[in-house]
Formats: sequence, structure tokens, C-alpha cells
Amino acid sequence: MTENKSIHGEWSSRFAFILAATGSAVGLGNIWKFPYIAGENGGGAFVFIYLLCILAIGFPIMMAEIMLGRRGRQSPINTMRTLAEEAGADTNWHYLGWLGVIAGFLILSYYSVIAGWAGAYVLKSVTGSFSGGNATEIKGIFDGFVASPLQLMFWHTLFMAVTMYVVSQGVKGGLEKAVRFLMPSLFFILILLVGYAMTSGAYEKGLAFLFTPDFSEVTSDSILTAMGHAFFTLSLGMGAIMVYGSYLPKNISIAKTTLIVAGADTAVALLAGIVIFPIVFANGLEPSAGPGLLFQSLPIAFGNMGGGLIFGTLFFVLLVFAALSSSISLIEPAVAWLVENRNMSREMACLWSGLITWVVGLGTVFSFNIGSEFKIFGKTIFDLLDYLTANLMLPIGGFCIAVFAGWVMRKADSQQELELENPWHYQIWKFLVCYVSPAAVFLVFLNVIGIL
Ligand code: PHE
Repeated sequence: MTENKSIHGEWSSRFAFILAATGSAVGLGNIWKFPYIAGENGGGAFVFIYLLCILAIGFPIMMAEIMLGRRGRQSPINTMRTLAEEAGADTNWHYLGWLGVIAGFLILSYYSVIAGWAGAYVLKSVTGSFSGGNATEIKGIFDGFVASPLQLMFWHTLFMAVTMYVVSQGVKGGLEKAVRFLMPSLFFILILLVGYAMTSGAYEKGLAFLFTPDFSEVTSDSILTAMGHAFFTLSLGMGAIMVYGSYLPKNISIAKTTLIVAGADTAVALLAGIVIFPIVFANGLEPSAGPGLLFQSLPIAFGNMGGGLIFGTLFFVLLVFAALSSSISLIEPAVAWLVENRNMSREMACLWSGLITWVVGLGTVFSFNIGSEFKIFGKTIFDLLDYLTANLMLPIGGFCIAVFAGWVMRKADSQQELELENPWHYQIWKFLVCYVSPAAVFLVFLNVIGIL
């Protein structure tokens, strides 16, 4: 089985896989979500815990997910079944794949709505809507925009259509082609913006906010949010990285590749913070403004600086690119399963899964306007989906992946698949997936329910 190739195709090189996995990891999570949750949770201390989670939990679990994918060579559901059989374990492990598919649908449903905001903001920016605007006017533009279900629906529909078109073109012709163009452009635009932020008045204040930890601000919920975000930002716990791993050719070092992907993802999040917070502080804005932070703050800067039309437009283009290379990986596990088990063509699989996601996404569309009063457990549909997926489903999925890779899979198999040259590196990885990652997730959960 280990010699098999995936029926869906393979990446053409290690570099293509790195681009695709980085493309999946780097997304709205880094540029839109990380700054606003760091802002809501007090900055430095939150950033510190998040970095710790990336190292101790994210890194070993990412290696585990790629390894499981490459060994199973199928959609996460079938991969888990095959690997459970290989290990002589219960095939109920395949429900882990289902948990991931459902999490992918739920995340993409709201992800697409926010990516749609970014699309709308490209248009607003390039047509000069922000020119000369003050804080009140810019907030007015945002409030007016999200109050319109029709506008949000339009952009959500457009983004879903593009996502499903790319996925329908297959691994090499769709996914790989897209990321080859998207990822380098993204890095280029980001570096350009960092240069701008360095010359804005509040550069040092922005850096101090991000990197000076004040642990008195930390609550059990902010620890959970930091951990959940480590999973979210690295695309872990739901099979996206697993399915990408299933298209990875043999003889490519999983450890080195993981190091590059996780490193690039962390760098982009920190760079996004370094771009955003100086602008937030220079304009007297609140870092804790929530999901609208990016859309309410940056346009003020773009509207009032030289070249702002170009920088602003570039920035939102970047956001759309980053979102697109992530959204394709959110739905790939479901599409791969439909092709494998329902005998569907890739196009039909995309049509159906896209349609379902689109419908679920309407819940998020309405939670910013006509449905904003509709709350479950005190949360709007958008807040609930975000909490349920990032803070619960991904950590639970990641916990099970660590347990499977560390305890269920035979040592000889994981050793063979990881091919670590230095035996110590294998021991360290094994220790992390067997003990450190599962224990960390477990302790954070105990802490939240108040037992710890
Ligand atoms: N990692 C992506 C981001 O940071 C989101 C994502 C989560 C993608 C889970 C795939 C799977 O935006």
C-alpha cells in the first residue's frame, strides 16, 4: 500500500507541496483573524501562548497529519480507515475523517463570507471610496456594507464559485497552478506593506503591543482561543493538511517541509500584526474592535496616505489571494471522498459540496444584519461557528490525530514514513505526539470547564 499513488494525482515537486501547504496555512487566519483576536486578548501575552502552541502542539501534529496522509493516500476518511486496518485497530477511527469533513464545511461557510468582504473592499479601494475618509466615515462604510444581506450574499457567492472552480480543475491543474501564482505575490505585497508600516508614526507602539506580554490579561478562554488559533492557522485537525499530504511524492522529508510551512505561516501572522497595529495606534483606533478591525482601521490609513489607493487595493487583493489558497484546502477532503466513494466526477463533487457550503454560509451572512439578534448560547451564528470549529472541533481532531500517530500506529510504520535521518529527531517527535500535544490540549479543555 505504501507504494501507491493517490488516484487524484500528485504534486509535481516538493516545492509545489510547500506552496500548497503554505497556501492552505496562510489565510484569513493570519491576516484578518490573528490581529483581531490578539487585539481582543490583550496582545503580547496572547501572542506568546500562541507561539508556544505552534511549537509544542502545531509542529508535531502537522508532521503527523502529513505522514498519515502520505501513507493512506486517500481522502482523510478512507485514509483513517486504511491506516486503522494496517495498525490492527478499530476502523471507527474513520469517524475522525468525518469530523474533519464537517469542520471543513462549517469553516468554509463563514470563511467565504469574510473572503467576500475582502473582495468587496478591493473594489471599494480601487474606486477611491476611502480617499480622505476619517474614522467615522470608514466605520460608516463598513457598517453600511455588512448591514446589506444582498451585498454580502453577492460576494460570498462569487468567492464560493471561484473556489469550487479551482478545486474542480484538480490537484495539478487547479490547486497547484493557483498557488504557484498566489503565494509569491502574497509575500511580495506583504513585504511592501511592512515597509510602509515602519515609516508610520506608531511603529514602536505597535510592536510593543504585540511583543510585550502582560499575563494579567490572560483568561482561560484566551488560552483556549490561542490554542484553537494555532490549529486554525496551521490548517490542522480537520484533514486539510492530511489530504495535501496524500498527494505528496515519496522521498520528501516531512520534517523539513513542516518546518518551512509552519515557519512561513508564523512569519506571515507576525508580519500582518506588524503592519496592522502601528496603523491602528497611529489613528487612535481600538485594537479590540473585533472581526471588523481590519476593515474599519486599515482603510483610514489607506485613504489618507500617499499611494494609498494602490497600497490599499494591493492589500485587499492579497487578502483574497490568501483566502483562496486556504479555502481550496478546506473543501478538498470532502471532494476527494465524494470522488472515491460516490463515484462522482470531480466537477460534480465540487458542485454539490460548494452548494451545501454556500447554503450554510447564509447563516453567517445574516448574522451581521437581519439575523444579528438571533443567538444561540449568547452567540450569533458566525460567532458560534467560529467557536465550535476553531476552539473545539480542530483541537479535538488534532488530539485524536496525535493519539493515533503516537499510540495506535505501529512504531515501525511511522518511523518508515517519516524517514528521519537522526534517530533522536524521531524520539523527540514521538514524545511530543504521544505526551506533550495530547496533554496540552486536554489541560486547556480542563481549564476552560473550570476543573483546573
Ligand atoms: N489556515 C487557514 C487560515 O489561517 C484556515 C484553514 C483552517 C484552512 C483549517 C484549512 C483548514 O486562514
